[in-house]
Amino acid sequence: MNLVEELKINRNLPDEELLHLINTDAYDDALMKAADEVRRSVYNDEVFLRGLIEFTNYCKNNCRYCGIRGGNGNAERYRLTKEEILDCCKEGHKLGFRTFVLQGGEDLFYSDEEICDIVRGIKELFPEVAVTLSIGEKTKDTYRKYKEAGADRYLLRHETATEEHYGFLHPEGMSLENRKRCLYDLKDLGFQVGAGFMVGSPGQKPEYILADLRFLQELKPDMIGIGPFIPHKDTEFKDEPAGNLELTLRLLSVLRLMFPYVLLPATTALGTIVPNGRELGLKHGANVVMPNLSPVRFREQYSLYDNKICTGEEAAECRRCLEVRVKNAGYRIVDARGDVINH
Ligand code: 5AD
Ligand code: FES
Repeated sequence: MNLVEELKINRNLPDEELLHLINTDAYDDALMKAADEVRRSVYNDEVFLRGLIEFTNYCKNNCRYCGIRGGNGNAERYRLTKEEILDCCKEGHKLGFRTFVLQGGEDLFYSDEEICDIVRGIKELFPEVAVTLSIGEKTKDTYRKYKEAGADRYLLRHETATEEHYGFLHPEGMSLENRKRCLYDLKDLGFQVGAGFMVGSPGQKPEYILADLRFLQELKPDMIGIGPFIPHKDTEFKDEPAGNLELTLRLLSVLRLMFPYVLLPATTALGTIVPNGRELGLKHGANVVMPNLSPVRFREQYSLYDNKICTGEEAAECRRCLEVRVKNAGYRIVDARGDVINH
């Protein structure tokens, strides 16, 4: 049995073999084929939509890779009001979106009560939709309030599961330990949880990717977000190379084989490094796309990395564009909440 077959059947491989898969392009075609078989056996040809609302680019943190880190004096800051957020949801709902992802920097301007009020507002308007939060590290009590307000899911990439690398990518005061604590608290509270990491982040080594895969096996998240690192002009990493396309696709396939049920987005970052990146992501095992529902006038300002796509398009244009892209890749967008399948 070859490595790909073995991974497909056992959903696992010993360290050395997994590392070999990460490091070679020899299995890429076989991986893609196996990943597509598995995704079809679990989710058919369905692709789920997530309407992304980037509601604040204020951030108290200073992650070294990120364009909206608090220390970036060149970033023009903005915040959306509850009404503006609800307007995005109304437009998205008309377009068939049944999941809204509220993403932002770690912005202390919004109290727990305000976030809860926004979540309740969305649920009152549209009781059948899923609300996902992606607003960083909080206490378990705060997460509990979000849950009680009706939030269903939470995205918090672990970024890297290796202490040394975590310390290199983040300033003092942030820790892998707290990041993991958050993820386990969220799981414990009953959120559908998403973790993930950047591919090709500065200092990343194959061994670190292996550690990321091992951490994900331990956490068993419902969603896994990976995309290439892309340098941002106002960060110390501005001259670092972007993450590699082939490696990102290979890892998407590996993840699909290790986690057959997982909700795996073809990310905006992947669509930014090559024009057909998201289509390629879908073909390699991804089953989610996350078009932007933020008001167009603010989109350029939510600049995590340079040259981000879709900053000039209206939500309806992105929906149409993705319809075509998903179809050309051989799949079909469905207007459903797209909850994880039991695992
Ligand atoms: N390139 C690619 N992805 C990035 N993110 C932040 N900055 C960058 C960058 N320069 C990712 C992080 C974060 C997610 C919201 O965006 O992984 O968790
Ligand atoms: Fe936004 Fe294609 S998805 S224009």
